[in-house]
Amino acid sequence: MIRSIGVLTSGGDSPGMNAAVRAVTRTAIANGISVMAIKKGYRGLIDGETEEYNARSVSNIIDRGGTVLYTDRCKEFMTPAGMQKALDTCECKEIDGIVAIGGDGTFRGAQDLCNNNIPTIGVPATIDNDITASDYTIGFDTAVNTVVWAVDRFRDMCESHARCSVVEVMGREAGHIALQAGIALGAVGIAITEIPFDEAECLGRMAKARKENKRGFVVLVSEGLEGYGEELEKKIEAIGIKTRFARLAHMQRGGTPTPKDRLVASMMGNRAVELLIAGKKDLVVCLRGNKIEDVGIKYALGLDERYKGKMDDAKFAKLSGSDQKSMTEFIEAKKAEMLRLYEMAKTISV
Ligand code: F6P
Repeated sequence: MIRSIGVLTSGGDSPGMNAAVRAVTRTAIANGISVMAIKKGYRGLIDGETEEYNARSVSNIIDRGGTVLYTDRCKEFMTPAGMQKALDTCECKEIDGIVAIGGDGTFRGAQDLCNNNIPTIGVPATIDNDITASDYTIGFDTAVNTVVWAVDRFRDMCESHARCSVVEVMGREAGHIALQAGIALGAVGIAITEIPFDEAECLGRMAKARKENKRGFVVLVSEGLEGYGEELEKKIEAIGIKTRFARLAHMQRGGTPTPKDRLVASMMGNRAVELLIAGKKDLVVCLRGNKIEDVGIKYALGLDERYKGKMDDAKFAKLSGSDQKSMTEFIEAKKAEMLRLYEMAKTISV
């Protein structure tokens, strides 16, 4: 029986986290369950930094960027001593279950809590949209909107001066922001970690378009390709197109969440509490198609590792036959969809 739920946000902040915290709080209270807000992610669980929330505690946060609970990337939580302190806090504050909002690191912590008898449910929130098991992570839409808003301003300059803007956007291990914002911006080139960038082909297309009197160009480069943006700036200059490089960095993580992020966050936060009430644990709430579904954390983390090339064949072979089959099919479909979008972007770029 769950009497009290803890809620925390961990890892990089993302717009919409507050909407998820609000949904968790209000759903729990509507079901007669008390809510402990845990501050600064797993750090607050270790230090016992909590505050009891009521329905009014989460008033007027649905539109706020960042996270009102604050966040941290807490290394100590991964140690046995850190975990023991966290368990002591759960006992002392009578926390029977936790909703952990964040990315893959957050879910590893959630899994550890489950292994120590604290039922925990993960809610995916990261601007990178790189929790493979979920089609969507909270904050992505806002980040794409922010990138498009910012780069549209560079486009004005590019058109006026007949220049190219090479812009580096976030996504340490995933090029979703670059790809989707790039399409929305009509970028002539999109360089991401997942698909080899044909530099010569892109430069050729730019040179041809310039001959046809195209003035302005935009190229997006994903952060995962460290330093490549600056390199490409020089190569574009070398074909005679004046170029400026810019890195958007952490501004992409801020700002008021879009309606889509508020909606998905509300649905995911609500479902996380319903799962805890139903006696479930060790799950990540995912958006698949238009439906909110839940996936085992172990499976979700394994799928993510395999998709990102971090799980070698020996480790993969230890999974059950059905897991291997479903992961392989899922990953192939996801990669094919990304490639399709990438090729389309090129076709319609100039
Ligand atoms: O995971 C979200 C993210 O913004 C990545 O895109 C980026 O690489 C990383 O976090 C930056 O982390 P930090 O906030 O520690 O600089």
